[in-house]
Amino acid sequence: MFAFTKGHGSLRILGESAARATGASSRRCCAFILLILILTPRVDSSWWYIGALGARVICDNVPGLVNKQRQLCQKYPDVMQSISEGGKEWIRECQHQFRHHRWNCSTIERDHTVFGRVMQRTSICVGSREAAFVYAISSAGVVYAITRACSQGELRTCNCDPHKRGKARDERGEFDWGGCSDNINYGIKFAKAFIDAKERTVKDARALVNLHNNRCGRMSVKRFMKLECKCHGVSGSCTLRTCWLAMSDFRKTGDYLRKKYNGAIEVTVNQDGAGFTVAHKDFRNATKNDLVYFENSPDYCLMDKAAGSLGTAGRVCNKSSRGTDGCEVMCCGRGYDTTRVKRITKCECKFKWCCAVECKDCEEAVDIHTCKAPKRAEWLDQT
Ligand SMILES: *[C@@H]1O[C@H](CO)[C@@H](O)[C@H](O)[C@H]1NC(C)=O
Ligand SMILES: *[C@@H]1O[C@H](CO)[C@@H](O)[C@H](O)[C@H]1NC(C)=O
Ligand SMILES: *[C@@H]1O[C@H](CO)[C@@H](O)[C@H](O)[C@H]1NC(C)=O
Repeated sequence: MFAFTKGHGSLRILGESAARATGASSRRCCAFILLILILTPRVDSSWWYIGALGARVICDNVPGLVNKQRQLCQKYPDVMQSISEGGKEWIRECQHQFRHHRWNCSTIERDHTVFGRVMQRTSICVGSREAAFVYAISSAGVVYAITRACSQGELRTCNCDPHKRGKARDERGEFDWGGCSDNINYGIKFAKAFIDAKERTVKDARALVNLHNNRCGRMSVKRFMKLECKCHGVSGSCTLRTCWLAMSDFRKTGDYLRKKYNGAIEVTVNQDGAGFTVAHKDFRNATKNDLVYFENSPDYCLMDKAAGSLGTAGRVCNKSSRGTDGCEVMCCGRGYDTTRVKRITKCECKFKWCCAVECKDCEEAVDIHTCKAPKRAEWLDQT
């Protein structure tokens, strides 16, 4: 079923190296699929647009839900709703993290009909480093969305963390639990039950890898919980403190997972399919905090939907950058077009007593560089 190719650096290209892209994409391994948590290529399914429509009807009609998911969907329509809304947020974060890269976590198609805004397609190479990132950040996004909804009192089945009661200590001394501590354990538990249910129906390498990355994502939200406190006592002397545990901005999780993407470890599955080991013996073993992947990525230079690549034709690049957003790397050596556009900026700002700043509108010409499309022959070569 799967070919476990020993990787040698095709990823460096889309990673940090400014090397010029070469090599054909590993078309074989890749598939065009829905950017959703169950992004196995087996079924084209999307549970997360369940949204505001009747739970019963919707849950029964979402293709590709496994039984367990269907049950959860019917039983907890309000949780489904928050998962669905949270989807927009992690997609945005994913796109932010990869905005300077050939693979930009972009959606290919937007469905503006019934399920509209939330159902989005992307292409991704299954088993690739990018897939590992998407699994992790989407799982994290689900944890985040559910936990926040709990705290905001939007869900029937959860609330602020009921265990954060009474007194506790930190390095500054004793404090009282108060306010609303985010119930991250509920979010993690639900996300695990719901998302992992899909992977648990099959026992193969891909499922194991996905489960590993899902977990990595869930835990990355917990990692950035922080204690927030309010001081009481005589004129704010802080002799008394009330504290609660709160999730940090989702950006922190995004940044963290992005680092994990850079350091993701290539694995091969064991013969018995019961586990995986690092693909390169001289490499360190994957810990539970590492993202793992088992297929090399295409170079994402050319449009090749089967390989999960949108290509970089038309992408904006930075002429003076030598990084992945530089025209050389972004355009894969095909060159770029330059268009001059006018931009209005605020200028000659003056402080006016009191208290305003007044600026003029100035017109400024800026050059925008966009990657050329591949020449026809080259293009045909790849498809
Ligand atoms: C990685 O794990 C394997 C099996 O668990 C072990 O034999 C090997 O020594 C480990 N390698 C490193 C570098 O820790
Ligand atoms: C990502 O890249 C695709 C293909 O080059 C492009 O069409 C899309 O606008 C980009 N998306 C974002 C969010 O930059
Ligand atoms: C382009 O890249 C240069 C060098 O890395 C950087 O200083 C500059 O801010 C970038 N410009 C834009 C518009 O991102």
